[in-house]
Amino acid sequence: MTPQTAGELAATYGTPLFVIDLDELDLEIHRFTDACLRRGIAVGYAGKAFLCAAFAEHLAATPLRLDVCSLGELVTAERGGFPAERMYFHGCGKTGDELRAVVDRRVAFDVIDNVEELEQLAGLASPDAPVDVMLRLNTGIEAHTHAFIRTGGENTKFGIALDQYAGVLTRIAALPQLRLIGLHAHIGSQITEVGPFLANLDELLAAGDRARARALPVAELICGGGIGVEEEIDDPRPLDLDALSAGLAARADGFGYRLALEPGRALVARSGTSLYRVVAVKTQGRRRFVIVDGGLTDNPRPIIYGARHLPEVMTARDLGPDEPATLVGRTCENDEMGDYALPRDLAAGDLLAMHTTGAYTYSMASNYNKFGRPTVVFVRGDHHRRVVRGESADDVTRLDVI
Ligand SMILES: Cc1ncc(COP(=O)(O)O)c(C=O)c1O
Repeated sequence: MTPQTAGELAATYGTPLFVIDLDELDLEIHRFTDACLRRGIAVGYAGKAFLCAAFAEHLAATPLRLDVCSLGELVTAERGGFPAERMYFHGCGKTGDELRAVVDRRVAFDVIDNVEELEQLAGLASPDAPVDVMLRLNTGIEAHTHAFIRTGGENTKFGIALDQYAGVLTRIAALPQLRLIGLHAHIGSQITEVGPFLANLDELLAAGDRARARALPVAELICGGGIGVEEEIDDPRPLDLDALSAGLAARADGFGYRLALEPGRALVARSGTSLYRVVAVKTQGRRRFVIVDGGLTDNPRPIIYGARHLPEVMTARDLGPDEPATLVGRTCENDEMGDYALPRDLAAGDLLAMHTTGAYTYSMASNYNKFGRPTVVFVRGDHHRRVVRGESADDVTRLDVI
């Protein structure tokens, strides 16, 4: 994004502002579909990374599927016209309403996380109209970055442990109202090597064959998301998608399963930018703090995970040499967004962009301090349009009952 575009967007919509560049997004979508679809690997976007109705509408025109994990995400996707037959439901604690949505065919299938969910769904579904389901397995492979470990599954709450799998297969085989069409396992985030995905797929293949041995119609294995992304827009991509899809396809060759991936972050991270105005600059002791008009509420990942998104100055004037600064938000927390080198003469009114904030930024925003969540805009070339209205003080108090 050029300083001129950033200035125009900030002047038009105000700050903080969350911007999605559709050209960047389409590039990433194309990278995934190009690497995966020709090898028969389906791609589902994990809506938790970022979703609004216009985004769902945009995805509806692509070959992507969509993973939703709440009624809120489902309704958002529906408002964007995303077709039910390309959606599926995730989540480890689905409500009765969410399971009812599955039975009502508002999604293609449910990914069952636990035995209680299996029983609840079985209670809602009818043998006359069986519901398609997958089982989310805890394969005991955990990956973060390039390393992975076999934990035996005791470390996370998600999915069905392999030592309970046989019992679950027996149960599901006795339930004519549920049709087990696939298995799923998601092993972590920011994975930068192919190895963990292959280890996970090996477990899924073995589990699939165990289900098939009981005449259960398992046809698809979803290998999760978690594809790592770079910190900065100019950094090389940390995981070669072509190597990943080729590796997965080769590993599954001859087994007769359709494979799928489920990326969130890697599809949307690069297309997102957060724009801020500097509201104050102060030096306390040896530290220089640059306070911007966002922070923990609109961009929580730097504060809760230490995520880094190098800020770029978008003000077109000479601001002197860079000097150390701590970028902070305006909430009543120590919401430090990172230590960076920022121009010496940066002052109130200057504009900053944090790049690659597309994933888990707007979707994790909150109303802490009763701040409103920012406006979201789509940009394509010289055109821009608002797709989510920023929240006003009236919006953040609209649910109060007195
Ligand atoms: C089940 C499941 N699938 C996919 C994803 C997407 O992961 P990522 O955004 O790292 O690709 C997540 C993230 O938490 C997940 O829980």
